[in-house]
This record gives sequence, C-alpha cells and structure tokens, in this order.
Amino acid sequence: MNQQTLLEDSQEYLWLPFTQMTDYERDPLIIESGEGIKLKDIYGNEYLDGYSSLWLNVHGHRKKEIDEAIKKQLGSIAHSTLLGAANVPSIQLAKKLAQITPKNLKRTFYSDSGAESVEIAIKMAYQYWQNKGNVNKTKFVSLSNGYHGDTVGAISVGSVELFHRVYGSLMFETIKAPFPIVYRNQYDDLDQIRENALTELRGIFAKHHEEIAGITVESIIQGAGGMNIMPPGYLKGVEKLCQEFNILLIVDEVATGFGRTGKMFAVEHENVQPDLMTIAKGITGGYLPVAATMATEDIYEAFYGEYQELKTFFHGHSYTGNQLGCATALANLELYENDDILGRVQGNIAFVAEELQTLYELNHVGDVRQLGLMCGIELVRDKKTKEPFPWEDRVGYRTTLKMRELGMLTRPLGDIIVFMPPLASSKDELGEMIGIMKQAIKETTEKMPSVK
Ligand SMILES: Cc1ncc(COP(=O)(O)O)c(C=O)c1O
Repeated sequence: MNQQTLLEDSQEYLWLPFTQMTDYERDPLIIESGEGIKLKDIYGNEYLDGYSSLWLNVHGHRKKEIDEAIKKQLGSIAHSTLLGAANVPSIQLAKKLAQITPKNLKRTFYSDSGAESVEIAIKMAYQYWQNKGNVNKTKFVSLSNGYHGDTVGAISVGSVELFHRVYGSLMFETIKAPFPIVYRNQYDDLDQIRENALTELRGIFAKHHEEIAGITVESIIQGAGGMNIMPPGYLKGVEKLCQEFNILLIVDEVATGFGRTGKMFAVEHENVQPDLMTIAKGITGGYLPVAATMATEDIYEAFYGEYQELKTFFHGHSYTGNQLGCATALANLELYENDDILGRVQGNIAFVAEELQTLYELNHVGDVRQLGLMCGIELVRDKKTKEPFPWEDRVGYRTTLKMRELGMLTRPLGDIIVFMPPLASSKDELGEMIGIMKQAIKETTEKMPSVK
C-alpha cells in the first residue's frame, strides 16, 4: 500500500488513544518497523525509542530470542481459554512470577492490560472482605495524582484531574490521601514531607478503617501523574499502616516492574510486601499484551471452597492467559538472566543520572526526576519561582515534536518530558537521546511567547 493511501486511511478510519486527532492530522506518524531501539516510519525516517513504545520495551525491537519463542509457540497453539482450563506456558509463567515477585505473593491471575490488572485487584480486595464476612469493608483509599489506567474502576482509584474530571459521576467514590509531592512542596525536608503525608493517611485509616477494603498505590514513583518520586520510607510507612489497621495494600507495579527502576520490582527498594500487586508492560519485553494481578495465599484462600459457597471470583477476559503472550513473557524473563539485564542496567542508570544533570544548564528546566530508567524533566516558565508555562502553550508537546524532528520519540505529561529508554539501550544511544532532549528543550522553551 502506498504511503499517501496509508496516511489518508489513518485519518479516515483510526481513532488514536489519548490523542486529539487534530494533533495527529497536523503531525502524523506511521511506524512501519523497528530494530534494536530504533523505530522506522513509512518514509524511512528513523527515531530512537525514548519512551520504550510507551514504557514497555526492554531489549529493543525484533529481539531474536523473543521472536523465536513466539514462532515456536505458534507451532503448538496461539490461544485456548484459561476459563476452567490451564495451558502450558501460563503455568510455567505463573511459577516463574511466584519466584521473582516479593515472597508473600504466590498466585497469578492473568489479564491483558495494566488497567485490567488494577480492576481485578480492586474487585479481589472488595470480594476478599465479603467472602470473609467483613461486609462493611467496601471502600478504597487512593492517592492524589495517582494513575492506574483508563477503565472505570482504574480511573476511580486514579486522580489525574485532566484525564478524569469529565467522568466524575461515573466513577465510584474513594477516599483521597495526599501523595507526598516533593517539587513545589512548602517543605524542603524529605523526612518532613514523608511524615506529613503519613500522618494524614494515619488519620484517614484511624477514622475509616472499619469500612476500608484497601489502598491503591503506585510503587515508589508515580508515573503518569508526573514522575513523582516518594520520599524514602513513605511506601514502607504505608505498608506498616495497612498492617496496623487491617487494610489490604494494593501496589501497582505496571510501570515500575521488570527492572524499570533498577530493581526487578520497585517495592524491593523498601522491602515492601504487598497483598496484591499488579504487573503488565515490561512483562513481555514490550511485545504482547499480558498483565497479571499477583495475590497472597491468604487472599486466594478466601475465594477457595465448594461452588455452592459462592466464593468464586467471577471475572475473566477472553484472551486471559494467552499462550503466545505467556511464552513471550517466559522468553523475556529468560533474557533477564542470560543477558544480566538488572546488572547491566545499573551502569545505564548512573550514566543517565550524570547526563541529565546537565539539563539544569537550560533556563527552563525546573526539575529532573529519575528513578532507575524512569525519568521526568519538568519544564517551567520561571526556574526560581517554579511558575509553570501557561498550559495552553503546550510547551511539553511542542518539545516532543521538536524531538521527533531531531530523531527521537517520546510523549510528554503536560510540561514534563518523559524519558524512559529501553533497559538494554547502549550508553551511546542514551547519550544521543539526552543530547536530542537538550537541544529540543532549549530551542522550544526559549521561543515560547510567554518567555520574555
Ligand atoms: C502505574 C500504571 N498503572 C496502570 C497503567 C495502565 O496500564 P495499561 O495502559 O496497560 O492499561 C499504567 C499505564 O501507563 C500505569 O503507568
């Protein structure tokens, strides 16, 4: 099919997620292929994959071992249902996940996207208490600025004003606790910021614990809410409060899992043991849609019994436990061992940390936040006062368009530039990407009309 037809058809028939289609019409992009950490469009232009194809990709594109695992699985079967029947790779992957996740998590409940894995965790937590006869525990606590995906349950426990406000009356109510944001906090001291947030949470738990089923929390760093890193000890503090008040701790590792923050799972930074943990994105190395909700044996047992007891978890998606996806995840995890991904990524993290500091030389870089290879660069109109650019100016979006022109892809979160390269990127590639970011930020911000 020729390029012009593809372009016209994309505008005639597609509706892209999280995209104002007038933006797409003005600046269309159609990817045709990928190799290593580069993507190629239909005109042959190459782009460095600075967002890991939306926070997924681990080893680069067309990784031989994963390609082969998919072909091998196709030789047996692509899909059979997991409703009432297991399949071979789904069993092998569940066993592997029990080995690599925190030790209290043993059971894997599969789904197909991060949002679904959160939806499932919420329903599990809710039904857990119902099955145990604790019928008043029906509410959830969630953190300000949190993001857990786009289904109705997931947005209910989320709170990104821009994405969620229109759905106000559609969402179920949650009790919101403040996330300990560091940048623009009235306090500079991290201990103080942590303790303030934990004190507020303690107050909520103390007042409502008899009706609270669980709390949802992203692991150590909030992603789509702005790449906000918790002060050290905050997540551990949340875990302790959950234990004290008999509340389930639901940790969302969709973005942070599989080495993204330098540990296999971000909870390992503080040795936190969730009751439920959601995983997706990097689980297949960025190849296929597989997600899972990991549960403790205690939670599993609350659903276990004869059918007539009506404790069954009545939830499942058609493609749950898909063989191609599970075989891909297994091949991906084997590469973590064979290629020593977690060992090698430490050098990349240190290199990026050093290079990103140079962004502070720019007039409009207000804050650089990094946990592992999960980075956010906040652009501000005024560095001293931390005054943002007018939101309508879309300085973040404009900067990423400039980056595209210079040969690198990413998507902003408002005026925060996301840098999430594939874990296996080389130092040269990382350096090149940071160079492009720097140039794009400089050229874009200094030309903004609101900059005098
Ligand atoms: C922390 C977190 N949870 C859940 C999701 C939703 O995952 P998905 O897009 O696979 O539904 C995301 C996506 O970015 C995320 O960052």
